[in-house]
Amino acid sequence: MNQVSTIQEIRDARKKLKGRVGLVPTMGYLHAGHISLVEIAKQHSDEVIVSIFVNPSQFGPNEDLDAYPRNLEHDFELLEQAGVDLVWLPTSEIMYPDNYQTWIDLDQIPQLLEGSQRPGHFKGVATVVAKLFNVVKPGVAVFGQKDAQQVAVIKQMVRDLNMPVEIAVGAIIREPDGLAMSSRNSYLDAKQRQAATVLYQALQNAQTKFQDGERSAEAIRKTMTDTINNEPLAKMEYVSCANVDSLEELENISTQALLSMAVYVGQTRLIDNLVLGEE
Ligand code: PAJ
Repeated sequence: MNQVSTIQEIRDARKKLKGRVGLVPTMGYLHAGHISLVEIAKQHSDEVIVSIFVNPSQFGPNEDLDAYPRNLEHDFELLEQAGVDLVWLPTSEIMYPDNYQTWIDLDQIPQLLEGSQRPGHFKGVATVVAKLFNVVKPGVAVFGQKDAQQVAVIKQMVRDLNMPVEIAVGAIIREPDGLAMSSRNSYLDAKQRQAATVLYQALQNAQTKFQDGERSAEAIRKTMTDTINNEPLAKMEYVSCANVDSLEELENISTQALLSMAVYVGQTRLIDNLVLGEE
């Protein structure tokens, strides 16, 4: 497996790859969720590139940039096993050299949900992903439904800027007890880890209500809120029952809805989501 860092190195290595190239952007500390995206990339392409870059511009001033977990050796092991051809590990200096000035900012989607709690987050995400696309020129790039709003932002950016790349989306990979896999789960101690199952429980309780015929979005949001408030170690930031495309809050659910939430367990901010009425 080839590992490169500078723009020149990745461009040279990219040129040698034949056929369709799949890109899986990550921030490292990889787990089975990331690897599931590599598997999807392999199905859609001839060669797979994984990028590992903890992108500073998508972290707020009081967020966990410095604490963000890193374990490159383990990442390489997983990627090697998964049959990845090329890993790109740029540095902050490479991605944002002195006098860096250009940003991609979307008008509407970042105002909602995660974006409303994390100002500037999606500006950082959209910009770094655009830069990764510009350098790698992938035929397909794969993202996880775990970050549903990130998928919406990237699809919108690709459409708006006519980027010649297909976006594929991988389902949320969960631990056996339902907790969505996340690099940030490593922050949790044993009690918090147990309490963190409340996110998926809240989503499942809401789904059961929906299956029993509930169509009021407010009632669905209340079910999620009540479940989370029942867990003493969990502190709800937001719950949402929104239109799956626009991400605007719904009053009534007709066919589909995106349920999503952000919940603090201790100092750790966790997110999860589920699409109601999915075929
Ligand atoms: P990161 O959090 O490392 O996630 C990389 C990709 O893995 C994202 O597309 C994310 O949605 C996906 N992912 C994470 N956990 C998952 C799970 N349990 N199941 C399925 N997919 C999962 O998301 C980012 O990095 C960054 O914002 C990035 C896109 C790399 C831009 O910096």
